[in-house]
Order: sequence, then C-alpha cells, then structure tokens
Amino acid sequence: MTAPSSPVPARPLRYGVIGTGMMGCEHIANLVHLGRTDAVDGVAAVEVVALADPTPCSLEWGVAAAGPAGTGGTAIDTYADHRSLLERDDLDAVVIASPNHTHATVLRDALATGLAVMVEKPLCTTVEDCLDVRRMAADRDALTWVGLEYRYMPAVATLLGELRTGVCGTTRMVSIREHRFPFLVKVGNWNRFTANTGGTLVEKCCHFFDLMRLVAGADPVRVMASGGQDVNHLDEEYDGRVPDIVDNAFVIVDFANGVRGALDLSMFAEGGRHEQEIVVVGDRAKLETAVPGDTVFVGPRDRSGVREVAAPTPADVTYAGFHHGSSFVEHRRFVDCVRSGRPAEVTVDDGLWSVLMGVAAHRSIDEGRVVHLEGSTVR
Ligand SMILES: NC(=O)c1ccc[n+]([C@@H]2O[C@H](COP(=O)([O-])OP(=O)(O)OC[C@H]3O[C@@H](n4cnc5c(N)ncnc54)[C@H](O)[C@@H]3O)[C@@H](O)[C@H]2O)c1
Repeated sequence: MTAPSSPVPARPLRYGVIGTGMMGCEHIANLVHLGRTDAVDGVAAVEVVALADPTPCSLEWGVAAAGPAGTGGTAIDTYADHRSLLERDDLDAVVIASPNHTHATVLRDALATGLAVMVEKPLCTTVEDCLDVRRMAADRDALTWVGLEYRYMPAVATLLGELRTGVCGTTRMVSIREHRFPFLVKVGNWNRFTANTGGTLVEKCCHFFDLMRLVAGADPVRVMASGGQDVNHLDEEYDGRVPDIVDNAFVIVDFANGVRGALDLSMFAEGGRHEQEIVVVGDRAKLETAVPGDTVFVGPRDRSGVREVAAPTPADVTYAGFHHGSSFVEHRRFVDCVRSGRPAEVTVDDGLWSVLMGVAAHRSIDEGRVVHLEGSTVR
C-alpha cells in the first residue's frame, strides 16, 4: 500500500488521545485544525473521539480543546484509564501524551493493539524500557511514531534541506544552544523529579540530540558532559522533597563518522533573543538558524557573502501552536503514513537514540567521565 500524499477521506481517521494536559490538548488542537484543513468534500481528515486521563480537570481541558469541530459533531467519550480507551473497536490511531514515566506502561498496552501509535518524546525514561518497546514495535504491522517534531519547524526543516544540497561539503560540527525559561508547572508536578522525567537531558534535550544525529548522519559513540541544578526550583518542595532537575549543562557528543556535536543548555536564560540557535559547519560552508526565526544563513568559506534563505511557515500549515507549526506538519505526515502504509518518518529507533544520548550525558555528569555508547549499551 502506498500513494496518498493528498486527497483521501471518505471518512475521518478516528483518534484517541491519552493524557490531556498541556501537550495532549496541543495535539487535539492540531488535529482539529488538520481535520478541517485537509478535509475532502466536506469530510474531515481526522477527528478526536476519545480521551483518557486520570485527572478530571485535564479531561475537561481535552473536551474543550476538541470542541464539536474536533469530533465532527459526535460526542466525545472520556475515560479515567487508558485501557478502557484502547478497548474501543472504532479507533484508527492513538496519541500518547501522558507524563514521561508513564510512557512505558501505556505503550505496552497501546502496542498490543492494531492502532497506529504516536508517542510523545521521550520514548521512555530508561534505555531498558526503550529497548523493550522497540521489540514490541518491531513485532507489529501498525505504525509507531515518536513525537520528536523539531525537525518539522520551518527554520530547522530549511536548514536540513540546505544541508542535503551538499552546500556545506562534509559536515564536521553541529552545535545547538537552548537558552530558555525554567520548566513549566505540570499536572501533579511530575516534571520536578528526575525519576519521572528521565532527567533534563532526556526529557528536554532528546529533541536536540535527535537533531544532532540527523545532521551528523551517524550514531553517537562518546558523550562528555558537565551540568547541574544551580538556579531553578531550589526553593520548591513537594511532599518534603526538593526538585532534583539539572537546569544547565554543556554536552559534547562524538559521532561514529567523526562529526562533533555540542549542546549548550541554560534554563534560566529567558531574557535572550532566541530560544534555540543551531549552527552546522562543514568543510565548505556554515549554516546558521534560530528558533523562533524564519531565516537560514548560508556562509561559504570563499567569503562570497552570507546568503539568506527564507524559512516561512508554509501556507497550508494553518495552526502554529506552541511549536511553530511543527506539530501540525508532524500530524499531517503521520496521517499520510497511516493512509499509505509507509513506515514512520520518526521511528522508535530515533526515539531510542535520543534517550540514549541523554542517559549517557547524565551518566557523564554524575560520574565525571567520558561515557561510551556501543550500540544501545551505555558504559
Ligand atoms: N514534543 C514536545 O515538544 C513536547 C512538549 C511538551 C510536553 N511534551 C511531552 O508530552 C507529555 C505530557 O506533557 P505535558 O506537558 O502535557 O504534561 P501535563 O502535566 O500538562 O499533562 C500530562 C497529563 O497526563 C495525565 N496522566 C498522568 N498519568 C496518566 C496516565 N497513566 N494515563 C493517561 N494520562 C495520564 C495527567 O493527569 C495530565 O493531565 C510528556 O511526555 C512530555 O515530555 C512534549
């Protein structure tokens, strides 16, 4: 089965969403807009018909985000337990946007169904769970997709497009700086503790490790990191415990093909101009972009001048949401893969590698040494 890249709907793809906090509602909003934008002959491309979340207030947020438009007018069903949602026989796809430490359990149940699955990053909080989930995903025919959507941001996608033209020559270095605001408040404050998130370099930075690996075109072999919790959340307390989350770090990654990666993270730097800056240097040119931003700068070494490449949000991306239209594109690509039977663009392997790099960085910080990655072994 292949073909779709556009018109199809004789009926909408029917979605369930598990976890309807901030990101679950963001997925619902994206699906509502996608349903309308890609409708064919008045039939929505997708509709959200079921939600699962143990927190009643979150379910209310989810119902409000879907509204009548999200469900094509059908009443939305809500469940306190994701297993009840998965028992339905009328769904095509499920989005998992529950807290990181619940992904492994929810995924094991979701992957046992024939539904197409999109799971939010990080795939799981431990390498062991990621490997277990990878085994399950390999044994099924249905799509399994990991929500690493940064690659679809217009500026990032344009940078990756320039890189593919070969303008840089041989890629040698990639550096990503994220200087942003502290972690937001979450339902039940789950994100205040490393045991729930996998650690900042897994939870947050899996996005950047995924981009580094895409740019490098190779897998990582060595990770060196320095980091700590120096500023944020030190005056907070939950059930007598103070949060234990890294708020700044430098991470250096060596890739198997010799490309070097560097991450510069500060989560107490919201006063800066850009939240993220991405720089790629090859033996012929340098690429630069920023998020938010709509331009990629291409600087050849021959000093012929910096070329500016526009990176606007495409006109058919009708919802920018929290992530500059990237979640909308992610869902459109996911739908296309479901309808065409094509494999996932963002795979379980991508999810695993991005977690491996974060886990290795945390181990490097904790043990003050270089950490080696041999396949999926961190040592
Ligand atoms: N891709 C991105 O850019 C991005 C951005 C933000 C969050 N996320 C990811 O989305 C996920 C959710 O984060 P959030 O910011 O929405 O958190 P949140 O706290 O706002 O929402 C999480 C929701 O999950 C619910 N929940 C808890 N246990 C559950 C379970 N077993 N089954 C179903 N629901 C459960 C909670 O009640 C809450 O409503 C996390 O994995 C996070 O890393 C991804």
